Amino acid sequence: MAAPMGTEAALPGGAAPHGNFPDYSRFHPPESRVCLLPGALLGRLFPAPRGPRPLLGLDVGCNSGELSVALYKHLLGLDDNETSSHQPAVGTDLKLLCCDIDAALVERAKQRSPFPTSISYTALDIMDPSARETLSSYLTRFGCSSFDLCFCMSVTMWIHLNHGDAGLVEFLSYLSSLCMYLLVEPQPWKCYRAAARRLRKLGRNDFDHFRSLAISGDMAEKITQILTKDGAMELVCCFGNTSRDRSLFLFKSTGVTGQRGSNG
Ligand SMILES: C[S@@+](CC[C@H](N)C(=O)[O-])C[C@H]1O[C@@H](n2cnc3c(N)ncnc32)[C@H](O)[C@@H]1O
Repeated sequence: MAAPMGTEAALPGGAAPHGNFPDYSRFHPPESRVCLLPGALLGRLFPAPRGPRPLLGLDVGCNSGELSVALYKHLLGLDDNETSSHQPAVGTDLKLLCCDIDAALVERAKQRSPFPTSISYTALDIMDPSARETLSSYLTRFGCSSFDLCFCMSVTMWIHLNHGDAGLVEFLSYLSSLCMYLLVEPQPWKCYRAAARRLRKLGRNDFDHFRSLAISGDMAEKITQILTKDGAMELVCCFGNTSRDRSLFLFKSTGVTGQRGSNG
């Protein structure tokens, strides 16, 4: 699998050029997000029998995997003590592919994974078109062309800061073509300022174009506009706010872009 080369690790003073903080789950605990999601969500989203194939999920920007595991357990209704290398005995078979640009974080996630047969990890830069082939290959293994569910949690700001307005729009368009449902937790604008400030303090100018971003302000609304523009996705609901003032939005593909669709 394609591992991005030379991804810069987190820097002193709590700065990290890609949001690749080594202890992210300590200051933004997974529980503060998963508790907003109804336990029966999978059954509601996928009520009809789907045949023998598992549901396929993608976690973009999984960091060291804590949120991926918490989402997996929450969606399958597993309690906190249930960690097993076998498929859990619940009605739904869910396979998660988790990716992150930081290979060291991905390695940590792999080492700690309590569900190695159901949750896979891969190091890749989601903005690199050739690395995206890894995702297509994963889907092909299950005879599918898209994921059932994709998680994009606290990632949009890092894509935006590193790839500008065009990068953010392209990223969201790619995700909308890649899945049936998309759960997004956008960072509010105040986080952009804090991230740029942290790097500036270290004398870095990584986010120089931060000041020229035209997409700014109410980022939840801007991201909703981008995803629903041209009718590619529709907003299903907002699951509420976390203690860090971030909202969780669920979008559904309308199939209008014509790229998605699962044959499994
Ligand atoms: C702030 S953390 C969020 C971690 C996790 N999703 C959560 O909410 O707990 C953002 C993650 O996105 C990853 N990331 C940033 N840009 C990325 C890219 N281009 N491709 C893949 N992962 C990326 C970072 O390495 C980092 O681990």
